[in-house]
Amino acid sequence: MGLVKITTLLSQTIGLDPDVVSPSQITRAVETRRVACNLPDIDRYWARLQTSAIELEELIELIIVPETWFFRDGKPFDYLKTYVNTEWRLKPNRNLLQILSVPSSTGEEPYSIAISLLEAGLQPKQFAIDAIDISQRSLTKARRGIYTKNSFRGDAWQERSHYFQKNDLGSDRGYELSQSVRDLVNFQQGNVMNSLAANQKQYDIIFCRNLLIYLKPEACTLVLAAIDRLLVTGGILFVGGSETGKIVPEQYSSIRQPFTFAYRKSELPPVPSKPSLNFNNPPQIPTTPNVQTIPKTHLSTIASAQSSPSLDLPAVRKLANEGKLIDATTLCKNYLEKYPTSADAYVLLGELYQADRQNSQTSQKAEQCFQRAIYLEPNSYEALIHLTLLKESQGDTTGANIIRQRISAIASRLPNSGVGGGT
Ligand SMILES: C[S@@+](CC[C@H](N)C(=O)[O-])C[C@H]1O[C@@H](n2cnc3c(N)ncnc32)[C@H](O)[C@@H]1O
Repeated sequence: MGLVKITTLLSQTIGLDPDVVSPSQITRAVETRRVACNLPDIDRYWARLQTSAIELEELIELIIVPETWFFRDGKPFDYLKTYVNTEWRLKPNRNLLQILSVPSSTGEEPYSIAISLLEAGLQPKQFAIDAIDISQRSLTKARRGIYTKNSFRGDAWQERSHYFQKNDLGSDRGYELSQSVRDLVNFQQGNVMNSLAANQKQYDIIFCRNLLIYLKPEACTLVLAAIDRLLVTGGILFVGGSETGKIVPEQYSSIRQPFTFAYRKSELPPVPSKPSLNFNNPPQIPTTPNVQTIPKTHLSTIASAQSSPSLDLPAVRKLANEGKLIDATTLCKNYLEKYPTSADAYVLLGELYQADRQNSQTSQKAEQCFQRAIYLEPNSYEALIHLTLLKESQGDTTGANIIRQRISAIASRLPNSGVGGGT
C-alpha cells in the first residue's frame, strides 16, 4: 500500500508515468532511502516523505534517468547550425538567439548546443542558453563540467576534443570542458511541472528531448502547453526520437530532416471574433463551476466562436441548461471527435464534467479538458480560470498561484491592460 502511495506521489510531483517505470525500480529506490533514513518500515518512510521536501528530493534523485551524452543523435545539432546560418542570421531585427534545454541532465546537451553555435560562427554575446533539470546532483555535475567516457559515444566529439582537457586528479578524473564553453550555459534547477509556467522568457529554440517518454499523458499536455507558450512563433522544438508522436501536428510542422526530430511552431490560426482575452471585460469567473450557472454569455461566446457551420454547441448548452448532462457530454464529445483541436469545446466539456458532481472521477477529467484547451490555445482565459479554481478546490494553492501568475503575465502583455506591457 505504501508503495502505491509513493508511486502516486512521484507521479503527482514530477509527472512520472507509473507505467514506464518498473515497480522493482521504485521498490529499490524506496528501500535504499528507507534504510538511509534508518526507518523500520515503508509506512514510516511514507510519513517522512510527506513532511520532508528534502527526502522527497533524495528519492527523486534515485528515480530519474539522467542518461545523456554529447551530441546525442548528431543530426539535431547539424540542423541547429543550418538554422542559424540560413534563417536566424537573415532575420532583420534579431536580438539574442535564445535557447532552452529542458531537461538538461548533466549538461552534455546544452554544452553540445553551445559548441554547435560556436561552430556555426556565432559569438558568445549573440546567444543565451538556459538549461533546466530537476536533479540537483545532475546540475552540480553539469556545472563542474568533468566527463568520463559514457558521455562521449560515437565519434562526433572526437573532432571537438580541443574543447576538453584531461584531468587526472583525485576523484575528479575525466575530461574537463573548457571554462569558456561552461560559461555559455545558465543552469537552473526546476521541475517542469511548475517551473516552466512561471518562466516569462521567449525562446527561439527549445530542446525538450527524452523527458516526455517518462511522463503521464496529463503531464505531457501540461509541459507541451508550457513549452508552446515559451517558444516564439516560427521557433523550433526538438524532441527525442521516440517522442514525435506527442507533438500535435496542427500546431507544429516537422522540419522534415531525417533523424532530427524537430518541429516548427506554426502561425496561430486566425481567431474568430471571440473576445477570449479581453481583460477589460473578462468573462465571469464562476465561483462554483456548475452548468446551471454557466453564464449564458460565455456559452454563447463559445458557440459563436466556432468556424464550422455544422457546429452544434448551442445544442450542448441547451441540453446542459435542461440538466441533461449525459446527453450534453455525449454531444460535446462527438463534436470533439470531429473537431479535435477546438479549445472552446474542451472548455465546455470540462465545465460539463465539473457540473456532474454525482461522479467523483469527473474533476480529474475536467482538469484534463482544461489542460487540453490550454495546450490548444495557451491564452485561453476561460480554461486558465477554470483550472485555477479547480486547483484551489483541490487544495493545490501552489498550482493555482502558478496559473494566476500566468494569467497576470498574459494580462500584462495586452495592449490596453494598464499593467505594464503593450508598448
Ligand atoms: C534522459 S535525461 C534527458 C537529457 C537530455 N535532454 C537528453 O536527451 O540527452 C532525462 C532528464 O529528465 C529530468 N527530469 C525528469 N523529470 C523531470 C521534471 N519533472 N522536471 C525537470 N526535469 C526532469 C531528469 O532529471 C533527467 O536528467
